[in-house]
Amino acid sequence: MNRKVTVIGGAGNVGSTVARCIADKELADVVIVDIADQKAAGIALDMYQSCPITGSDSRIIGGADYAAAANSDVVVITSGVPRKPGMSRDDLLNVNFGIMKAVTAEIVKQSPHCIIVPVANPLDAMCQAVYRLSGFPRERVIGMAGVLDSARMRTFIAMELNVSVENIHAFVLGGHGDTMVPLPRYSTVAGVPITELLPPDRIKAICDRTANGGAEITKLVGTSAWYAPGAAAAEMVECILKDKKKIHPCSVFLQGEYGIKDLFVGVPVKLGAKGCEQIIEIRLTPEEDAALRKSAGAVKELTDVIGV
Ligand code: NAI
Ligand code: 2OP
Repeated sequence: MNRKVTVIGGAGNVGSTVARCIADKELADVVIVDIADQKAAGIALDMYQSCPITGSDSRIIGGADYAAAANSDVVVITSGVPRKPGMSRDDLLNVNFGIMKAVTAEIVKQSPHCIIVPVANPLDAMCQAVYRLSGFPRERVIGMAGVLDSARMRTFIAMELNVSVENIHAFVLGGHGDTMVPLPRYSTVAGVPITELLPPDRIKAICDRTANGGAEITKLVGTSAWYAPGAAAAEMVECILKDKKKIHPCSVFLQGEYGIKDLFVGVPVKLGAKGCEQIIEIRLTPEEDAALRKSAGAVKELTDVIGV
């Protein structure tokens, strides 16, 4: 195919799911890079062998060597340590910052024109690290979290109202952590805000469950989620490769938007061939605005620790 996507950490749970989603949708050739060299090669071969059955002509290769990743259109970074039960995303800060340093240098060397989609946690701080380390313009570093968090919220709304998930739109802003900001007023079923459809206590329960969505899976499975995170990152890749110009909540480097400066925080953005093509500013109530600022403050504490 004439497009190439590299997934760094692609032998892991989230990365292999991203790679598989991209191949299943025949979006691009896929290069899986992972320090687990043999495992990356094996997973890529297994995935490639599924393509005759699924009817995809994506070519998939894997290994530890970055040379195969040269001139990628998009690079997804899933290399990083995941949470274990009881750990917060922030506990991963220093170890994953070290991994970002190593992989960003290789990305810049091999694919200086690519768009980077960081996924490793703590997400917003890792995005800021990759942004600073790469020297890329802000349009080309776009973190995955809001697509996942809003998919979780959509799922919980669908469960509550027994309607199709396809009818539901949900917005979750802020950092990808316990302080994330689900926005019920902008979350709709067939265009009707859920504030018109559900009592406040049920809406609060949905928002709380969304904010704790990652911890809920981690407790059940023993490590963090991968199916929904993998699908979410692949959705972002699809929007970029197909220049779809869809609006999704993503973590981007704000420079005054929402009154926040020099910080990666999740906000609605237009995703297209140039990456983050527009930051959409929606009107917030004073309470929503305060919650977004609190969430941004939590991200800033982490970026200050690692000095990015
Ligand atoms: P995993 O442990 O299954 O996979 C991580 C992979 O990264 C492993 O295969 C490992 O060998 C590889 N790796 C480690 N250091 C590397 C390096 N220097 N270069 C290349 N590869 C390297 O972990 P999982 O579950 O896939 O999670 C990956 C990351 O994604 C974690 O930090 C996790 O917290 C995060 N995550 C973020 C989400 C989000 O919404 N932003 C959602 C789910 C997970
Ligand atoms: C999640 O939300 C842990 O960030 C990961 O599932």
